[in-house]
Amino acid sequence: ATERTLSIIKPDAVAKNAIGEIISRFEKAGLKVVAAKMLHLSEEQAGGFYAEHKERPFFKDLVGFMTSGPVVVQVLEGDDAIAKNRDLMGATNPKEAAPGTIRADFAETIDANAVHGSDSPASAEREVAYFFNSDEICPR
Ligand code: CMP
Repeated sequence: ATERTLSIIKPDAVAKNAIGEIISRFEKAGLKVVAAKMLHLSEEQAGGFYAEHKERPFFKDLVGFMTSGPVVVQVLEGDDAIAKNRDLMGATNPKEAAPGTIRADFAETIDANAVHGSDSPASAEREVAYFFNSDEICPR
């Protein structure tokens, strides 16, 4: 079924000048960018986005990293978009990511892991709405 998912190109990948190469992988896999913006997240924005991880030991580092530089947030649309995006990204820890995945090719550590993608339909709905108003999404 056609789905939407939230993708974030994280500060490490933006700093590497890899925005285009990463978006190109989404497009070549048949996902369409239907919304996009570049943001430098505040602590409040990053902490709210990752609220489900608030009690985890890595939360402070995660928020620190996600606010360390600009990110590109996008809504990707396509058939099976949530799982397709996760396949393209590879495992959360780049050291475990399959060859040819975005994290294997662009990421160094579990904190600086190049991209984020929604992990379920419920989180996709919440995460898309966290960054985009409905009039900022351009179906095509
Ligand atoms: P992301 O998919 O953006 O979701 C939460 C992020 O926390 C994750 O990618 C990692 O970058 C980061 N993180 C750091 N340590 C861990 C860990 N032990 N388990 C899961 N995520 C972690």
